[in-house]
Amino acid sequence: MSEYLPGLAGVPATKSNISDIDGEKGILAYRGYPIEQLAKHSTFEETTQLLLDGDLPSAEQLAEFDRNLRHNRRVQYHILDLMKTFPATGHPMEMLQTAVASLGMFYPGNDCLTGGDACSDLNYIHNMTVKILARMGTIVAMWEHIRNGYEPPEPRDDLTYAENFLYMFTGREPDPMLARIMDVCLILHAEHTINASTFAVLVNASTLASPNSVIAAAIGALSGPLHGGANQKVVEMLKEIGSPEHAAAYVDEKLANKEVIWGMGHREYKTKDPRATILQKLVDQLMEARGGDINPMFETAKAVEAVCEERLAKKGVYANVDFYSGILYQEMGIPADQFTTIFAISRCAGWLAHWREQLKDNRIFRPTQVYTGHAARDYVPIDKR
Ligand code: COA
Repeated sequence: MSEYLPGLAGVPATKSNISDIDGEKGILAYRGYPIEQLAKHSTFEETTQLLLDGDLPSAEQLAEFDRNLRHNRRVQYHILDLMKTFPATGHPMEMLQTAVASLGMFYPGNDCLTGGDACSDLNYIHNMTVKILARMGTIVAMWEHIRNGYEPPEPRDDLTYAENFLYMFTGREPDPMLARIMDVCLILHAEHTINASTFAVLVNASTLASPNSVIAAAIGALSGPLHGGANQKVVEMLKEIGSPEHAAAYVDEKLANKEVIWGMGHREYKTKDPRATILQKLVDQLMEARGGDINPMFETAKAVEAVCEERLAKKGVYANVDFYSGILYQEMGIPADQFTTIFAISRCAGWLAHWREQLKDNRIFRPTQVYTGHAARDYVPIDKR
């Protein structure tokens, strides 16, 4: 039997050509394209198509895909009715998981999935990809209104994915700079090799479950604070610290108690996460555009990062993608408990790319275990125990 490695650390779980990480050098690339170039030149729609299809689309292909996404933003009123029955105090990630899973009841048809291109219905795969991706943003934005007791606005077909999301979420047309920042955030979070939620995609896809079940499983995995939930924790931590001069004492106390500093550390990166570098620059740009008028939390974050670098660099622990994203979302008027749902909207692009890749070369996941229980023994009747 092969060696048991907790957390499957370093164990290849699949072959994939979607994205790649060089954790020593701090490089992330989607389909070979460095994340810095995509963040600078691409859009979420184009990056999604790159992840799904393997290459940058032509102008016509992109226009067609974008049109499809825009036409699929509306959800049936039954889903709106269902969401109105959810408790307003529920966590938005639980809401998203439930609403996305429910889509499967409205769009059945996964019995066409047999694994392998030759027998699976490619139309179904394409249609479901667009339906789920387009509706994820709508559902998250709708929830912000429903949980506050209001009817959500209708999606708008004349806006990009990022613009429409911010429009629906806040009820106002977004400032162009904030819309572009949201677009970049969606690009940066869209894919990241075989992390916990993507592994959940592979396992569920391998059973030929419906794509709604596959994505709902991934949303559940992403909701945990060790994965996607960390960006909410970062903002809560920065609020608790309060100001830059309290950063060192806070970090030292946490480390002495063997607690984690949220937004620091990554299984793959032994240097600063390249996405954190891009996000930090975006905060800088926003600050410059606003003449320095930005949430003071940013200064606290920089102080925490500097202290962590002194204390944790020797362990290869640096800022990860979650460290600065929350500060930007706050500037857009997004409450902290909705940060992870935005991560999910974006990562849905990568999840769907992995779902499709798994189907093309499918074998059901069935790992083994190291049994540590009792040896065989006889049942004891209840009156003899
Ligand atoms: N704060 C303080 N110490 C940390 C740390 C953090 N955020 N992340 C890692 N370390 C320390 C560990 O305690 C360990 O120290 P030790 O060798 O003295 O025991 C060492 O660095 C190695 O970390 P390890 O727990 O083996 O890393 P991992 O790959 O198993 O875990 C994470 C990776 C992401 C789960 C972990 O870094 C973490 O919990 N980070 C905070 C949560 C977070 O921001 N998650 C979002 C990830 S994108």
